[in-house]
Amino acid sequence: MARIAIVYHSGYGHTAKVAEHVRKGAAISGADVRLYEAEDLSAPDKGPWAELAAADAIIFGAPTYMGSVSAAMKQFIDASSKVWMSRTWENKLAAGFTTSGSLSGDKQVTLQQLATFAAQQGMIWVGNSLPTGYNASGHDFGTALNRAGFFLGLGTQSLVDLPADQTPNDADLKTAELFGRRVAEATLRWARVPAEPALA
Ligand SMILES: Cc1cc2nc3c(=O)[nH]c(=O)nc-3n(C[C@H](O)[C@H](O)[C@H](O)COP(=O)(O)O)c2cc1C
Repeated sequence: MARIAIVYHSGYGHTAKVAEHVRKGAAISGADVRLYEAEDLSAPDKGPWAELAAADAIIFGAPTYMGSVSAAMKQFIDASSKVWMSRTWENKLAAGFTTSGSLSGDKQVTLQQLATFAAQQGMIWVGNSLPTGYNASGHDFGTALNRAGFFLGLGTQSLVDLPADQTPNDADLKTAELFGRRVAEATLRWARVPAEPALA
């Protein structure tokens, strides 16, 4: 069984909802997918760090606040510096997602921050392979998958005046599920295929 951890922060429930749909999509046969709240990992000596160490892949999720990851997510990122010292996450797969109020809203910065964090930890980043569903006339913005057109990771839009049971829309949640599935499929391949013996 390949183990996938999803670590996320959500101030108002929207990122939590996206995380739940990433989990749903990742829950394919052979994958054990678990959700973790970043607040429970806010200090290096407290929280389920051992479970993260046992994972084959870790997916990071944060809302975009003021053009970057939320403070609670950054707290988790900084708390992981002990992991950085021990290289425990080296060669695990990693991926990232965010949601924000604007269609762009500088989500790219959040995804770049998460990808840089994963690189610092020696992890292997898996991007979003879904073609953007909204880049030509005739496309329907309301139903298009990957409608905001993010490839570094998953970017969804949560309208700021609606609660998490009404936003992001179904297209974004479906995109989240397909993104989760992609990471899970990559993890199964990564976890099961033994390395070739080194050339003499
Ligand atoms: C402190 C704060 C800063 C925000 N900054 C941005 C931003 O930079 N770009 C954006 O598009 N939306 C921004 N928003 C809107 C949030 O990204 C949006 O409401 C998101 O759904 C919140 O996710 P959450 O419910 O998981 O906390 C901000 C919201 C808050 C509370």
